[in-house]
Amino acid sequence: MNQLLQCNNINDFRSLAKKKLPYPIFHYIDGGADDEVTLKRNTESFEKCDLIPNVLRGVENIDLSIKLFGKKISLPFFLSPTALQRLFHFQGEMAVGEAAEEFNTFFGISSLSTVSAEEISKLNGPKIFQLYYHKDKALTKSMIDECKDRKFDALALTVDTITGGNRERDLKTGFTSPPKFNLKSLLSYATSPSWTLNYLFRKKFDLPFLSGYVGQGTKFAVSVSEYFSTMLDQSMSWSDVEEIRKYWKGPFCLKGIMSTEDAKNAVKIGASAIMISNHGGRQLDGSRSPFDQLKEILDAVGGKIEVICDGGIRRGTHILKAISLGANACSGGRLYLYALAAGGRSGVQRSLENLKNELVRDMKLLGCKKISELNSENLRFRNE
Ligand code: LAC
Repeated sequence: MNQLLQCNNINDFRSLAKKKLPYPIFHYIDGGADDEVTLKRNTESFEKCDLIPNVLRGVENIDLSIKLFGKKISLPFFLSPTALQRLFHFQGEMAVGEAAEEFNTFFGISSLSTVSAEEISKLNGPKIFQLYYHKDKALTKSMIDECKDRKFDALALTVDTITGGNRERDLKTGFTSPPKFNLKSLLSYATSPSWTLNYLFRKKFDLPFLSGYVGQGTKFAVSVSEYFSTMLDQSMSWSDVEEIRKYWKGPFCLKGIMSTEDAKNAVKIGASAIMISNHGGRQLDGSRSPFDQLKEILDAVGGKIEVICDGGIRRGTHILKAISLGANACSGGRLYLYALAAGGRSGVQRSLENLKNELVRDMKLLGCKKISELNSENLRFRNE
C-alpha cells in the first residue's frame, strides 16, 4: 500500500506498473501504433491552450456531477472499456468496476473482457458494454443479448478497429492473448514472481464473451492486432451500425469517431453519443488527437448528441479544458489501467481519488462551482 500512497499522478502509477508487470504485458498497455506519434500527441495537444481563471466566486462547494447516457454520474469523466484486465492484475475488471461504482461513474467492459457479464452485473454502478462487430454474427448478437439481459446502461460499438494497428512493441515482446511464455520473455515472467504466481494459480484466464464461439484469444494465442484483423468484420458499414442501433434500444455510443462527417452520420442513425477517440494511439498512427479534433466536431454536432473526448488525459486540467471547449464528458483507458496493474482495486481507487481531488482543486482555482459553468471563455489557444 505504501508504494500506492506515493503515486500522486498517472505517471507515478505508470512507473510502478512497469516495475510490477512482465515486460510484454506492460508494453501492451503502454504502447501505440507505428512510431507512437499519435499516442504522444493525444496528451501533448492539451498543452496548446491555457486556462483563464476567475477569482472571488465563493467556491467552497464544488459539484463535479454531470449527466451522461441518461444517468447522473458524480464525475465528469469515466473509465473507457479496455480488454484483458485480469492480465494486468488478478482482480481485473471487478476491481475497476468496484472502484468506478464507489465514485459513481461509468466503467466499460470490453468484448474481450476476462470476466463474465454475470459477474459484472453483480455491481450496481453504471456500466457500458463495448462491442466488437465480429464476422461471427451469432457471437455479435449473443453479446448484445447478454447486455440486454444483464441490464447494461449503454452499448459502445468500437468503429476504429476494422483491422489491427501496427503495434511494434507487441511484435517485439511477443505479447499474445493468452500470454505465451517463450524463451525471450521467460526471464521477465520469472522476475515478476507475484504476477506469474497470480496468473498460474488464480482463476484461469478466460474471455467469457468469446470462448463459447471462437478459440482465438483463449485456446489459441494471438496478438490483439491479429485478432482484430482476422475476427472482426471488415465489411462493417453504416447500415450494419443502424441495425445494431435498432436492435439495442438503450443508450448507444460510437467509439472511435474522428471526422465531422462520421459525427453527423452518428446523429442520423440515432446514436446517443460519440467517443472522439483514436483508440489511445493504438490504431492509425498520425491520426489527429481527440482534443485537437473536438471543436470541429462540436461545431458540427454539438447539442445534437453527447460528445465524449477520449484519450491522452493525464490531469484534471485536461478534463477541464475539454469540457470548457464543449465536450459533455471525458474518458480514458491508461488513466486507470496503470493503477490497476500497480495495485488492483486500491490502485484504481487511488487514481480516481487523485483525479477527483485535482478536479475539485482546479475548479476552485478556476472559479467554477459546477461543471456547467465551464465554457470557452475559460480557455485561450496560443497563436490564435
Ligand atoms: C486494444 C484493444 C483490445 O487496443 O482495445 O488492445
